[in-house]
Amino acid sequence: MLNPYRPIESTLLDAIAETANIKTFLVRPQTPLSFRAGQFVELTVPGLGEAPFTPSSSPSESEQMALTVMQAGRVTSALHELSPGATLGLRGPYGNAYPLDEFAGRDILILGGGVGLAPLRSLLLALLEERSRYGRLILCYGARTPSNLVYGERLKQWAAGDGLEVHLTVDEADGEWNGKVGVVTTLLDELSVEAPRTISAVCGPPIMMKFGVMALLTKGFTPENIYLSMERNMSCGIGKCGHCRVGRYYVCRDGPVFTYAQLQDVEEIW
Ligand SMILES: Cc1cc2nc3c(=O)[nH]c(=O)nc-3n(C[C@H](O)[C@H](O)[C@H](O)COP(=O)(O)OP(=O)(O)OC[C@H]3O[C@@H](n4cnc5c(N)ncnc54)[C@H](O)[C@@H]3O)c2cc1C
Ligand code: FES
Repeated sequence: MLNPYRPIESTLLDAIAETANIKTFLVRPQTPLSFRAGQFVELTVPGLGEAPFTPSSSPSESEQMALTVMQAGRVTSALHELSPGATLGLRGPYGNAYPLDEFAGRDILILGGGVGLAPLRSLLLALLEERSRYGRLILCYGARTPSNLVYGERLKQWAAGDGLEVHLTVDEADGEWNGKVGVVTTLLDELSVEAPRTISAVCGPPIMMKFGVMALLTKGFTPENIYLSMERNMSCGIGKCGHCRVGRYYVCRDGPVFTYAQLQDVEEIW
């Protein structure tokens, strides 16, 4: 029987600095690894352990995968030290995906905070690859300072194109910044959307997700139309160990994508 914990040997092709503590790692698995937007993988740093990440590359690419990783602790700090050519492991994909067929014909608002844009990027790329299937595509993204915004060049390209409406903000400006200043939810105050026909996908630090959901509800979004990409400490990643429990759900098996309707009665979801 196949060992479900056995990772696919993979090679680190490149490590691109996004901010002082976030890098995007381009990884090539020995055998192609397909995933759907929203699913996650377990990435192994040999000798140290593994950690879950949602790929930030397009789901249509299976030969190589991008993972945008913030330095948080043991595994991620070791990963940040590696150079191209290093051997890594990948297993997965795990968990559920965004129901893109249900999104067809709807307007879609992506709300990201800090490194929380990483798990939303594969969704964004999937939506842009089939742009004509959807109505308005809106990205509202914020970070602490301009140098904490990930995907700087890509954000400029998206903002310059006509497929995606891009709204950016930072909590604190610096000398170069002439955009908006304020927490990411302030972008929603000024945004005009038809809530009943709009789906929202939210990911970011817990406090941002909490206030983001409250702001969306105030704008008339229903809990069924608010999708959350949840993060919890994980171990097995395959519904066996219970580490990732949130209420009656296991994030690795029943998520990581949930609607707010599913979670609104769970205590301490943030
Ligand atoms: C489905 C899923 C997708 C994710 N996608 C991304 C991503 O795209 N980019 C990214 O940078 N991170 C992502 N994360 C978070 C990432 O898994 C953690 O940052 C990582 O596991 C930390 O591992 P570590 O060994 O470096 O830290 P550790 O040494 O294990 O811990 C350092 C600190 O981080 C906390 N921590 C560990 N794991 C998590 C977690 N999962 N959520 C919150 N806090 C945690 C610990 O409690 C501790 O306080 C995702 C998590 C999940 C569950
Ligand atoms: S990580 Fe083991 S049950 Fe979810």
